Amino acid sequence: MRTDTGQIFRIEDYRPSDYLIPETRLTFRLDPEATVVIAELVIERRPGVAPSTPLVLEGDGLVLRRVEIDGKPAGKQSFEVEPNRLTLLRPPAAKRFRIVIETLVDPSANTTLMGLYRSSGIYCTQCEAEGFRRITYFLDRPDVLSVYTVRIEADAASEPLLLSNGNPGETGPLPGGRHFAVWHDPHPKPSYLFALVAGDLGVVDDSFVTASGRKVALGVYVEHGKEDRALYAMDSLIRSMRWDEEAFGCEYDLDVFNIVAVSDFNMGAMENKGLNIFNDKYVLADAETATDGDYANIEAIVAHEYFHNWTGNRITCRDWFQLCLKEGLTVYRDHEFSADQRSRPVKRISEVRTLRAHQFPEDQGPLAHPVRPRRYREINNFYTATVYEKGAEVVRMIRTILGPAIFRQGMDLYFERHDGQAVTIEDFLAAFQDISGRDLTQFALWYHQAGTPNLSVSTTYDATAQTFTLEIEQSVPPTPSESRKRLMHIPLAFGLVGADGVDMRWTTVDGATVEDGVIHVRKRRHAVRFSGMATRPVVSLNRGFSAPVTLSVERPRDDLVFLARHDGDGFSRWQAFNTLATDALIGAFRSSLGGKPSGFPSEIATLAVAFAADGALEPAYRALALTLPGEADIAREIGANIDPDIIHGTRAELARTIAEANAATFGELYEALSTDEGFTPDAAGAGRRALRNTLLDYLSLLPGGAALAARHFSRATNMTDMAAALGVLTQRHPGNDRTQSALAAFERRFSDNPLVMDKWFQIQASVPGPGTVEAVEALTRHPAYSTLNPNRVRSLVGTFSSANQTAFHRPDGAGYRFFAATVLDVDGRNPQLAARLATALRSWRSLEAVRRDHARTALLSISSTEGLSTDLRDIVERTLA
Ligand code: PHE
Ligand code: ZN
Repeated sequence: MRTDTGQIFRIEDYRPSDYLIPETRLTFRLDPEATVVIAELVIERRPGVAPSTPLVLEGDGLVLRRVEIDGKPAGKQSFEVEPNRLTLLRPPAAKRFRIVIETLVDPSANTTLMGLYRSSGIYCTQCEAEGFRRITYFLDRPDVLSVYTVRIEADAASEPLLLSNGNPGETGPLPGGRHFAVWHDPHPKPSYLFALVAGDLGVVDDSFVTASGRKVALGVYVEHGKEDRALYAMDSLIRSMRWDEEAFGCEYDLDVFNIVAVSDFNMGAMENKGLNIFNDKYVLADAETATDGDYANIEAIVAHEYFHNWTGNRITCRDWFQLCLKEGLTVYRDHEFSADQRSRPVKRISEVRTLRAHQFPEDQGPLAHPVRPRRYREINNFYTATVYEKGAEVVRMIRTILGPAIFRQGMDLYFERHDGQAVTIEDFLAAFQDISGRDLTQFALWYHQAGTPNLSVSTTYDATAQTFTLEIEQSVPPTPSESRKRLMHIPLAFGLVGADGVDMRWTTVDGATVEDGVIHVRKRRHAVRFSGMATRPVVSLNRGFSAPVTLSVERPRDDLVFLARHDGDGFSRWQAFNTLATDALIGAFRSSLGGKPSGFPSEIATLAVAFAADGALEPAYRALALTLPGEADIAREIGANIDPDIIHGTRAELARTIAEANAATFGELYEALSTDEGFTPDAAGAGRRALRNTLLDYLSLLPGGAALAARHFSRATNMTDMAAALGVLTQRHPGNDRTQSALAAFERRFSDNPLVMDKWFQIQASVPGPGTVEAVEALTRHPAYSTLNPNRVRSLVGTFSSANQTAFHRPDGAGYRFFAATVLDVDGRNPQLAARLATALRSWRSLEAVRRDHARTALLSISSTEGLSTDLRDIVERTLA
């Protein structure tokens, strides 16, 4: 494991490597505890570099067995070996030479899940970002591209399947019951895309014929007996391959494409060239064990990893500061794919909810960083919502500014110019500048400047002059180490809605560039004046969430009510109702703090039932409209002196108010949706279930509610309904006997399915109230739990700390103490997982004073511990700074 050197990496220190590695031949003699890795490397000195400049290769925890230079054993004085480095002090002066390095690694002891490790008896690898150096000494940086040939030797009986990147080559038997397979990947790639899998797995296979007529063999590998649960992943893969050809002209480029599911994985999945390795949770699904949300995630993540083949693999990152070059762009692409496969407005609302839940708090707290960071201490900690989700929003804004046709031409130019290269965000932006002739310099600040911009907006209508004016002012709040912010280019999509609900036209506009329904905000203040407005319009702002900003709009509540009924933009219509609900909740929170509880404006319940019963709207959309802002959303909007117990009470009260006002209609709708049409995982079926389950949540708050939810649970014929009912029971009726027996029934039925038990852990970790601290602590001793498996830890402790406001933030600090102890325990085995968990405390400063003190004490107890990993130390110290 790496120990913290305190070293900080800065973008301005980037230098190209002195040496390159055009060819890499690897031989793996797999053994559970002592795997031998022989790396034969062709090394090339870069032009201009002095001959015999020392060659410094990175390593991490390696045991070196031998070094050869140009066919001869290297003398002891010719190199220096350290656990994290191998230096050839005076390499050959020739432009090209060869070296052989033999290292020894212990995959079974590798609990970090980086490098070569074992998961349920399967050998697998994870090399992004800096895991390849745990396999052999190498120039482990993304701008060193190499052509790999890999020979795997293993026991033929226990590892019949031997996979690596590229196309399959020779295979055959070896003495001693062993066998070998060779793989060759013709596409030069950085080491982080290397992968190897060996084991005994079942497979679903299929094939795909590319647009130019090449046949590709496809495989999804899973544990024996789980093949049926891999069919949806295969279906998603085939749809992704077709879509990328149609939407971006990107064709697949090898003879095979394999996906392997493993059960121990730190992230969602990994785009290794031709051999994607997945967290099994994003592969395995059937109606009995997976929810509609799981299906949607599988579809999106299979697509995401596949899309990386062009955005990430063919064109990769020059250095890790450019991570968003591949991640933001690829998330943008998977968003578009899912929007095309399902419903665009529903998808957009879900994306924005995710962005606000994860990226906004990051951007508004101590861990804020630009989409393209300028420094890091541990790159693992930069696989963040900002790099991924905000990075995707930035790409989306480029399309909004240029329009879809020019955007596509810009993408084509990017692919054409940079295929086979390791490039930067500047290169990416240059393609769009060059194709469009537009200056994107100010826009580029979206990559370089952290913080969520705010737009304050007020409006005036002049009936005599028939003008409508928007006063817009932008500001970007300060973030760590960036106190002064520059003005940004914000594409603000909008509409001026007339009394009939139809968008009004204007004759002229001045005060800002307005094109295709978008106001280009570029200055601190704009007074955008529309003339020819015979009546006062209601302005709909940030339609489709065209820019990732917050809005402070001065307007009568009636305007929001009007937009919630009439806005022609599906996203903004949802947003209007969501804003009304948020404002009502904040109002109630404030009066509750002041000791005088207040009611809620009656139009909320009226609008809720209007959405619920509007047959012209898709059921999935209606379900989203009926979903109140979460407790964390409300806390984020309030911003300071948060008391999670009051927020919880207020939100429950609003839900009850809505349920009571609409009991009859909700009941009828619920019944009407109850006719079982059989399970299909498509958007239509999922939408019906989402609406019915949302209605159940409201109905459960009425007399007989627990019984209704219990019946919903026992009659459920799929996991979506079952998990929803269990969620309703545990959230709304935690102490009820029915809840306890449903939990027990669920446990009995699924105790041998770890992924389903994750839902059971998650549901219990989410139970509101103080007792959940002890309950979660007790569940860490449940036989289905394992502190070694990231999915288990995230389901239980991750859910508790990031999605249970009342229990985690228990006023006596017990939640934080349990949490700190768990994080420290995990850090000893899996630093990445520990660091990610620890981010749950990033918003500690916005808590009220008593909780804030306890949270700080817990953070200090972590930071004062000796021997912390770089990963965890980095997060905790930035959080406290
Ligand atoms: N590159 C992966 C993805 O986004 C994420 C990942 C990062 C996986 C680091 C493993 C390790 O698709
Ligand atoms: Zn990715």
